[in-house]
Amino acid sequence: MAAILLAGGAGYIGSHTAVELLNAGYAVIVADNYANSSPEAIRRVEEITGKQVKLYEADIRDDKKLLEIFRENQIDAVIHFAGLKAVGESVAKPVMYYRNNIDTTLSLLEAMQETGVKNIIFSSSATVYGEENSVPYTEEMKRGVCTNPYGWTKAMTEQIFEDAAKADPSLSVVLLRYFNPIGAHPSGRIGEDPRGIPNNLMPYVTQVAVGKRECLTIFGHDYPTKDGTCTRDYIHVVDLAKGHVKAVDYVLRHNGTEIFNLGTGTPYSVKEIVESFERVNAIKLNHVYGNRRLGDLAEFYANADKAERLLGWKTEKTLDDMCRDAWNWQKQNPDGYRKSN
Ligand code: NAD
Ligand code: UFG
Repeated sequence: MAAILLAGGAGYIGSHTAVELLNAGYAVIVADNYANSSPEAIRRVEEITGKQVKLYEADIRDDKKLLEIFRENQIDAVIHFAGLKAVGESVAKPVMYYRNNIDTTLSLLEAMQETGVKNIIFSSSATVYGEENSVPYTEEMKRGVCTNPYGWTKAMTEQIFEDAAKADPSLSVVLLRYFNPIGAHPSGRIGEDPRGIPNNLMPYVTQVAVGKRECLTIFGHDYPTKDGTCTRDYIHVVDLAKGHVKAVDYVLRHNGTEIFNLGTGTPYSVKEIVESFERVNAIKLNHVYGNRRLGDLAEFYANADKAERLLGWKTEKTLDDMCRDAWNWQKQNPDGYRKSN
């Protein structure tokens, strides 16, 4: 049974990936400093799967501790989720973002070098396509000019991995460019648990629905899109997690660097999200139209053909599934993991 280290694995995408890896028969080791998560998520991963996770509280930048983790375990592959991800915060605190997101990468690569681990998957983002590329995005497009420090950390980290794999031909790197993950595990036991006011659309929607926020503001209704609101490639987090299982199978059998978009290939508008959420959950969502948000692109979505061709992966869940599961998680856990139930 191959063992996979999930750096930052207690977070939103990491916890869902842990479930799918355990279900697929992998052993899972998680290292997280809980900067944006809670060990409760991993307890619930164990509850959902009936399997154990080896859990370390650790800052990935702590080289000594990281090396201990690598030496204590026979690690076959690493998935690097450990990063700060709030776009606005990255503009206000760029040094903190570069320090965290780049140093976690360098520490992981050094620990891998030291212990002979050759396989790594990185959580990149569609944001690296920048503003220049036209939709749908395909993997061979050049990385664009990013609009914020968070985006630059993703672009720079991709470059670091490409250089490392060029220098060491036995290294195997998979760069996964996520589009817009939303939704939650259908059990409602794990989901997205943002701290403070959510930056992203779906957690804002669910917090309005549960009565924690007054009203959703839809940012802009005069975009050149099908209904005037922005469109995105929303992807169910369970589909995304399953994409990681396929990426693990792939990274273990190849060398060099490969990039994959993980998206559905189908854009939906903010208005369509609100309509689907209201319909499938039989809820009225208080919302108003407001000004555009600075830095938002009108639309972007994936060409997801490469992942289907080389990984044998494609998404299965619908927008209605995403909206149903997001609400199921929020209503069962109005305060996220803070109030265990
Ligand atoms: P998340 O914040 O829920 O998970 C990230 C995890 O990393 C958290 O558990 C956090 O505590 C941990 N972490 C951060 N810095 C760390 C450090 N120095 N040492 C140890 N642990 C650390 O976010 P997520 O949505 O699960 O995202 C996972 C990854 O995917 C991130 O790198 C993010 O940038 C990337 N990504 C996310 C999205 C999205 O919309 N959610 C989109 C594209 C890319
Ligand atoms: N939106 C609203 N109201 C809100 C929040 C969001 O109308 O309260 C709209 C945004 O304007 C956008 C859409 O909902 O049109 C999605 O916004 P999100 O903030 O959820 O997601 P983004 O597409 O802006 O950002 C995501 C990730 C970033 C990543 C970026 C580019 O969250 O990490 O995609 O890949 F950098």
